[in-house]
Amino acid sequence: MSLRGGAADDLIFYVNGRKVIEKNADPEQMLLSYLRRRLHLTGTKYGCGGGGCGACTVMISTYEPASKKIRHYSANACLLPICSLYGAAVTTVEGVGSTKTRVHPVQERLAKCHGSQCGFCSPGMVMSIYTLLRNYPEPTPEQMITALAGNLCRCTGYRPILDACKTFCKESICCQRKANGKCCCDQENYLFDKEEKVSTRLFSADEFQPLDPTQELIFPPELMRMAENQPKRTLFFHGERMTWISPVSLDELLDMKVAHPKAPLLVGNTSVGPEMKFRGVFHPVVIAPARIPDLNVVKCTEDGLTLGAACSLSVVKDVLTNAISEFPEEKTKVFCAVLQQLRTLGGEQIRNVASLGGNVISRKSASDLNPILAASNCMLSLVSRGKKRQIPLSDIFAEGVGNNTITPEEILVSVHIPHSKKGEYVCAFRQAPRRENALPITNAGMRVLFEEGTDIIKDLSIFYGGAASTTVCAKQTCSALTGRHWNEQMLDEACRLILKEIAIPGSASGEKVDYKKTLIVSFFYRFFLEVLQSLNTMDPCHYPGIPMEYRSVLQDFKTKMPQSIQIYQADIEPNQSPQDPVGRPIMHQSGIKHVTGEAVYIDDLPSVDGELFLAVVTSSRAHAKIVSIDTSEALKVPGVFDIISANDVPATNEFYYSDDPEIVICVGQIVCAVVADSDVHSKQAAAKVKIEYEVLEPVILTIEEAIKHNSFFEPKRKLEQGNVDQAFETVDNIIEGEIHIGGQEHFYMETQSVLAVPKGEDKEMDVYVSTQHPAFIQEMVAASLGVPANRIMCHVKRVGGAFGGKLLKSGLLASVAAVAANKTGKAVRLILSRGDDMLITGGRHPFIGKYKVGFMNDGRIRAVDVKYYINGGCTPDESVLVAAVSLLKMDNAYKIPHLRCWAYACKTNLPSNTAFRGFGFPQSALVTETWITGVADKTGLSPEKIREMNMYKENEQTHFKQKLDPQNLIRCWNECMEKSAYYSRKTAASQFNKQNYWRKKGIAIVPMKFPFGLGSRYLSQAAALVHIYTDGSVLLTHGGIEMGQGIHTKMIQVASRELNIPMSRIHFCETSTTTVPNACASAGSAGTDVNGMAVKDACQTLLNRLQPIINKNPKGTWNEWIKEAFEQSVSLSATGYFRGYNENMDWEKGEGQPFTYFLYGAACSEVEINCLTGDHKNLRTDIVMDIGCSINPAVDIGQIEGAFVQGIGLYTMEELKYSPEGVLYTRGPDQYKIPAVCDIPEQFSVSLLSSSQNPYGIYASKGIGEAGLFLGCFVFFALRDAVRSARNERGLKTSFVPNSPLTAEQIRISCADDFTEMVIESWGRVCSVMSG
Ligand SMILES: Cc1cc2nc3c(=O)[nH]c(=O)nc-3n(C[C@H](O)[C@H](O)[C@H](O)COP(=O)(O)OP(=O)(O)OC[C@H]3O[C@@H](n4cnc5c(N)ncnc54)[C@H](O)[C@@H]3O)c2cc1C
Ligand code: FES
Ligand code: FES
Repeated sequence: MSLRGGAADDLIFYVNGRKVIEKNADPEQMLLSYLRRRLHLTGTKYGCGGGGCGACTVMISTYEPASKKIRHYSANACLLPICSLYGAAVTTVEGVGSTKTRVHPVQERLAKCHGSQCGFCSPGMVMSIYTLLRNYPEPTPEQMITALAGNLCRCTGYRPILDACKTFCKESICCQRKANGKCCCDQENYLFDKEEKVSTRLFSADEFQPLDPTQELIFPPELMRMAENQPKRTLFFHGERMTWISPVSLDELLDMKVAHPKAPLLVGNTSVGPEMKFRGVFHPVVIAPARIPDLNVVKCTEDGLTLGAACSLSVVKDVLTNAISEFPEEKTKVFCAVLQQLRTLGGEQIRNVASLGGNVISRKSASDLNPILAASNCMLSLVSRGKKRQIPLSDIFAEGVGNNTITPEEILVSVHIPHSKKGEYVCAFRQAPRRENALPITNAGMRVLFEEGTDIIKDLSIFYGGAASTTVCAKQTCSALTGRHWNEQMLDEACRLILKEIAIPGSASGEKVDYKKTLIVSFFYRFFLEVLQSLNTMDPCHYPGIPMEYRSVLQDFKTKMPQSIQIYQADIEPNQSPQDPVGRPIMHQSGIKHVTGEAVYIDDLPSVDGELFLAVVTSSRAHAKIVSIDTSEALKVPGVFDIISANDVPATNEFYYSDDPEIVICVGQIVCAVVADSDVHSKQAAAKVKIEYEVLEPVILTIEEAIKHNSFFEPKRKLEQGNVDQAFETVDNIIEGEIHIGGQEHFYMETQSVLAVPKGEDKEMDVYVSTQHPAFIQEMVAASLGVPANRIMCHVKRVGGAFGGKLLKSGLLASVAAVAANKTGKAVRLILSRGDDMLITGGRHPFIGKYKVGFMNDGRIRAVDVKYYINGGCTPDESVLVAAVSLLKMDNAYKIPHLRCWAYACKTNLPSNTAFRGFGFPQSALVTETWITGVADKTGLSPEKIREMNMYKENEQTHFKQKLDPQNLIRCWNECMEKSAYYSRKTAASQFNKQNYWRKKGIAIVPMKFPFGLGSRYLSQAAALVHIYTDGSVLLTHGGIEMGQGIHTKMIQVASRELNIPMSRIHFCETSTTTVPNACASAGSAGTDVNGMAVKDACQTLLNRLQPIINKNPKGTWNEWIKEAFEQSVSLSATGYFRGYNENMDWEKGEGQPFTYFLYGAACSEVEINCLTGDHKNLRTDIVMDIGCSINPAVDIGQIEGAFVQGIGLYTMEELKYSPEGVLYTRGPDQYKIPAVCDIPEQFSVSLLSSSQNPYGIYASKGIGEAGLFLGCFVFFALRDAVRSARNERGLKTSFVPNSPLTAEQIRISCADDFTEMVIESWGRVCSVMSG
């Protein structure tokens, strides 16, 4: 047999019960693109391509003939090479259920529990839940929540998804909070006692079909036969550039390895895959050893467990879990420690495919297993041709140990994990930017063995990950401490030695050096406490144990299934007909299609004949002149059709960011684009375009640099009221300070997408775009092509999340695609990769707020002078408007008699920042709340007192002289105080803090006023078009875009009420410039308000026309009236129009009515922090919101919760990082962490304020899309409260002004103690930490 193999084998596998025989399987092809492009199964989505988001989750089933067992596991299709699927069965969301066959209970419940908003994450969610249920039909809540750790959702805030999950769990999920005689189950009755009739039911579980495991697709018998009967032989697959070899015996593998020493062994592809995709690594040959029995062995030996290197991490987890239950505790300490790391390593989808050997061998700095396996004396069995050896893993990381490298021809066969011994203690620690599914910042494995019956160290091992480029060993420290007693002196010495020995190199990416150093000593301290406590448990007479107040730090935070309750006013109108859907929690109009994968997004549109794929080439310099562009290599790539540049733009060149097309002004600026016959070819070619630059000065990246260079967009804005300078003269106290607020990436799950299809006549073009603003797309494309707008038809069915990021940015991308389509005469598809999307499109503006606040000793704030600087990036975009809006909304809920505020939009060389949910309010109001807490600190009063005292009162005006009625603000505040039991919980938190030194709780309650309005009338005009067909069915359209906020659902509710027909008779097809021209953007929370008015208007026109017919035959049916109307030649089509709100703002005078009404709210959040690591847990959040009369409480509560969780991301975890040259480092979910299921509060309640009316909104409702985001800052202030408590205890009384996001790093560094001090000085004593 030739080692390269002869002809390629047929790849045989099943997809959704159908056999697939692929004769030309390409090893470079991942399952995701195969499903989507080859099999046209588009339910499985692309969200990141790197295993980090779960949008592409599928279920893989394999049959193991020896055990006769079928294994079902979830996996990320984006990292799964199709060649790895030989003999496997793949189930995608389409195979689970569909509207054409049967909607599966998982799909049904996810949709009916309102678990989908934009729906882009929903198929992935379905697959994770479905796979769990295939293995455990009645899972525990813990299993459920673990199954979802690898799935991100940017819209829902996860609560409704978990509600759907809970319906499958056997155990009752009750808060068990009976202390005050009440629990979550009692709450409903308790609430019903009140005057207003309220409801807590957003869905009815009675309608759900039962889960019947016998209905599931069976494992294909043919694959079983294949596995049992066919002799196993080496398989070869040859692709365009790559060969895949899959041997079946160790002997063959060794031969292959000799023949291809550089070929990686590919098992899960979770290490090699991302390297090939994102870091330009290429392997012409890969060897897949997963079918070799020796590498899959699971053996229980005398002294431990031997696990094959190809065992998946999930298998390892299961084996260890079983072993822990079988062996005595003394023997399983290593197993427990390894398991501890495995629980949070990656998501379930990653653990299901990633191999033990892969994790060990790739020796990444961030490996969670290597430090603990090395510390525990695990042994590696290695083989190569003619050689076998066993080495301790620790040798690999220990300097000075001879023969300690694994040679390229060596294969890791298995890992032996030993039993722990008597007198041995083993622990593993990790701290990551997010508790689950995030690579660690730093981790550690530690083991100590004592001389028998003593606390004298006989053997000590300490290994760290994340500190250097690979796992490192504190070898000298360990030797120095051998023979020492386990006591405080040893601890002191150990920390000192560790800091000296473990060098953490600083790096260009600003790699948290101090934080890592603090963690490495903090981890050792934690180990010290753990061991001390265990010694005490063993022998309380000899070993004193640790003080009570230190004990809680021995427990890590665990993710629990949250308890949640949603309360809204039911039956607002006493005589409302049961058919009238307004005010009722109606499921999203596309809910079922989201969860079955039938909902069509841009990249799901079937390919057009001859279609081309476009990839963009972007600038790698922040400010430079382009000297040359060499496309020669790119043009040689197979399938390349053309290169598109500025010269191809027929008319207005919106292609470039600056007037001079040869100048680039940010990294990520589009320079040119490649069109090719496939996505892969266009990307390969784009990577080969060579651009030479001449760097220009200055390069301005930060706000500080912009201020230095006086680089601003005009106009600058200012508002002033009262006499600020005079007021400062009369106040008791003044504080001054500043706060920095980082930017935020939209991270909509569907990346920017366009399909431009030239129609072939009259220069017409259909442009399908994922946008919030089709009219703008039409305008941009028409301007670029030099054709009238009436030739460009822009279509939007739905958008997979937008949050402001698909307003102006999508116009540029649509123009690029349209120019390419115009030049080539072919349809052009442009789907940005996640990395390109994050690089190119900008996000929320970073802010600096500088404030001076004057106040009286009793807490009354008299004067404020505040300046906001926002980083606008390289083009104006909406930055000046964002700056202006931040001024108008900065007062939040407070009346400041003398106020002066300024806003500057800085012009820098970053990609242009743009609109983002909240539009400046989340930043400027955070600055306000920061100085509010500063005033509290200074006066010694509580922040809530300061807030309450300065809150707007009756008959007051804003700082731009707009009147407001704060009655509902005060109601929200009072209700929130009551519902959250704020004062008693504050007392309990403070009690807890007294009893716990290393864990602190914090609680904060904050009010919110969110003004609604777009500033001028024309921006809020809207139109609708309603057709009634002769069969009585109604086709509705309007100018609003469905991006998850449920606008079409609400519009159908409106039409249903107005026409008095069931919702089922009304259909919404798409938003298009052909049906509703010149529609304003769906932005600023205004979509429902303005389009609702237009839909109502159209329906009323139609009803007026029908009225004479109805009057004549009042008992007739709808169909009879329509038939009659048609016969009487009554037009059954009508447009509706809303002129917009009368809003205005005179910036010269500093006054106006820029807003139509105000939303109000209040929320209380409680958190707990771990002062040693900076980790935190969101314990509880209670939100009360005034949103008028909700049209759809399920949708509105979903908006509040989703925005709140997005706000948690903004204020506590999402960090964008740039190189000093302005290159964005954080270009995917692996580097940029948005909240996951582990981040939502353990108890989560949302109440809609009852009896609230809004005379300006449709049916008295209020626009709710944006307001909730600010609520996330309550977690920020709760964290601040917790940190402050720690600081006070440690004698640090100075006011503490955290920047945003308040990450684990900031928390840890701010909870200053001897460890942080030690890091700063790299020397210090820790004894005081022990003696309190
Ligand atoms: C989204 C995501 C999240 C992740 N999160 C974490 C995390 O939190 N913590 C963590 O520790 N890791 C994490 N990882 C990394 C992951 O655990 C490792 O990449 C994985 O264990 C590697 O296994 P694999 O089978 O996928 O390796 P592959 O990519 O298939 O191969 C990895 C490398 O190891 C070599 N190799 C594999 N097996 C052998 C063998 N038997 N003998 C010799 N060489 C071998 C290969 O030659 C190859 O170079 C994450 C990865 C992803 C994609
Ligand atoms: S697309 Fe596969 S995990 Fe994100
Ligand atoms: S519904 Fe989850 S990402 Fe939109």
